[in-house]
Amino acid sequence: MRGVQASITAQFLALIRALGDLLPEAPGFSDPVAAQMLSPAWRAMVERARARLPVSPYPFWARRGMAVFNQFRTVALDRAIAEALPIQQLVILGAGFDGRAYRLAGLRDTRVFEVDHPGTQAVKIGRAAGLTPQAREIRHVGMDFTTDDLAERLPAAGLDPTRPTFWLWEGVTMYLTACDVAKTMSRAASVSAAGSRMALTYFARSVHNSFERFSVAVWAMLIGEPLRCAFDGPELHSLAFSVGWSMLSDTGIEDWKAEFGPGVALSPHEVGIQWDERIWAGCVRAESGP
Ligand SMILES: C[S@@+](CC[C@H](N)C(=O)[O-])C[C@H]1O[C@@H](n2cnc3c(N)ncnc32)[C@H](O)[C@@H]1O
Repeated sequence: MRGVQASITAQFLALIRALGDLLPEAPGFSDPVAAQMLSPAWRAMVERARARLPVSPYPFWARRGMAVFNQFRTVALDRAIAEALPIQQLVILGAGFDGRAYRLAGLRDTRVFEVDHPGTQAVKIGRAAGLTPQAREIRHVGMDFTTDDLAERLPAAGLDPTRPTFWLWEGVTMYLTACDVAKTMSRAASVSAAGSRMALTYFARSVHNSFERFSVAVWAMLIGEPLRCAFDGPELHSLAFSVGWSMLSDTGIEDWKAEFGPGVALSPHEVGIQWDERIWAGCVRAESGP
């Protein structure tokens, strides 16, 4: 992973959320702060798309299916957070250009910790400077999951291990090895009081879209953000259990659509490899915490 530049995948996700905000399709999706997180050139692209409405806002390389999938992912995770409210501490791991601290009113009593590589974080802090947080407080923690210890960094930044924490890990595990995923979950559990929860996304191993998987993997490598892992569901479930977490749910796009967007047309072909991205949610096991 790049150390000094901002993550390209994180900026791309903010771009498709900003474009999606012009013409939301997943019920409940809205991300009015995403455009603010973009470079001036990409913000101009969003403004041009706005001027063309109701023509589709998506360029060919940011296709509608992928954008709508990410709207569903955003809403599903927003709902997981909403169900856990009130939350005193929210840790957003690999936050990238996540705008939740600026757009979720339910976080008014929450201290949010945004954790990311320092390079991405510096750019995000600059771009978000003009936004008004909804969260009570935002603290930024620059670290690398592969070399730094979460269980030292977060308490040093003010995380209170005696109070419950919600850990959000969206769109990041696939860039790490399974070993680093396990280590991060284990260290998170060690500073998580009873009642703490985690929601993460992961790529399920799949035989579908194998050509597309290959081309996306090559693209990811070329931009310096190689894809490193995918799990079978049971494999992730037992890994999570072994490092301190009990599973609450494991859901995918078909579940999210059935729950809050049954009328939205979306096919695996339109979405591409993210069709196999799922959300695992869990709570810390009593014996794992501090
Ligand atoms: C695909 S982006 C997702 C960003 C954000 N969570 C979202 O969904 O919009 C992946 C993020 O993980 C971060 N990341 C990847 N590997 C990391 C590592 N080893 N340590 C810290 N952050 C990492 C990147 O900097 C980037 O912000």
